[in-house]
Amino acid sequence: MIDLHTHILPGLDDGPRTLEESLCIVALLADLGFDHIFLTPHFRQGFFESSPSSVREASQQLRVALGNRLPAVRFSEAHEVHIGSVFDSHGRVNGFLRLGSKQPDILLELPRQPFPFELLSRTIDRLFFEGIRVVLAHPEKHPELSADPARYRGLCERGVKLQLNITSLAGFAGRQARRAAEYLCTEGMVHAMGTDTHSLAHAVEYVPKGMRRALKLLGEKRLRVITEGSELNLDSLGETHTWS
Ligand SMILES: [Fe+2]
Repeated sequence: MIDLHTHILPGLDDGPRTLEESLCIVALLADLGFDHIFLTPHFRQGFFESSPSSVREASQQLRVALGNRLPAVRFSEAHEVHIGSVFDSHGRVNGFLRLGSKQPDILLELPRQPFPFELLSRTIDRLFFEGIRVVLAHPEKHPELSADPARYRGLCERGVKLQLNITSLAGFAGRQARRAAEYLCTEGMVHAMGTDTHSLAHAVEYVPKGMRRALKLLGEKRLRVITEGSELNLDSLGETHTWS
C-alpha cells in the first residue's frame, strides 16, 4: 500500500525534528499496512528550500537508521511543490524532485490562503505544455474547489490526478474538507492517497480513523486499486529523478 505524501524526514520542513520521531512514524505507517512511503518535503521558495540532494541524503540516513528493521518498506523521494515555486523567475521549471522515473509528474500544492482558480488552471496548462503531469495534493482541503464540485470533475477531465489526504476523512482538516473528501471518494475521483503525516501524534490520531472511513466509502477492491498506484500510471513507483 502506497502513502504518496508524507513529511517525515527530520529537519527538512515542518515535519519531525528528530530522526527518532521519523523512525516511530515509519513503524506506525508500516504497522498500518503501508509498504511504499513517498518522502515528499515541501518545495516552497522562501520557506522550505530542501535541495534534491538534501532530500536524498536525509532519506538515506533514515534507511541506515532503520537498518534491517521493516525490510518490506520501500521509500521514494519527491517534493510537494507549491504552486508559486513551480517556475523560476525566468519561467523555467524549477529543479525539484518529481514522482516516477521517466514521466515528469509533479505533486502540486495549492496555497493555504484563498487563490483565484484561474491560477491553478493556467499552471496546469503550462505544466502540460511542458509535458508534466499533475498530481494535485489534497484537493479536498481547498474551498475554491470544494465550493464548486464541478471543478473537481473538470480537473479530472483535463488529466489531473487527485491525491486525497486520508486524514481529511477523519476530520483533521475540518468539516468542509471531510465532506469534500467523502464526495471525491463516492464520485470516483480519488486517484491516490497519502497521509500527509507531519508528526507522530498527527498520524496516531488521524490515519487509522481515516483508513477505516476510506474502506467504508470505497470498498476493499477500489481502495486497493488506489493504494497500489494503479490510477497514477507512473512509469516507476520506485525511483525519482530531478526535473530541471
Ligand atoms: Fe503536504
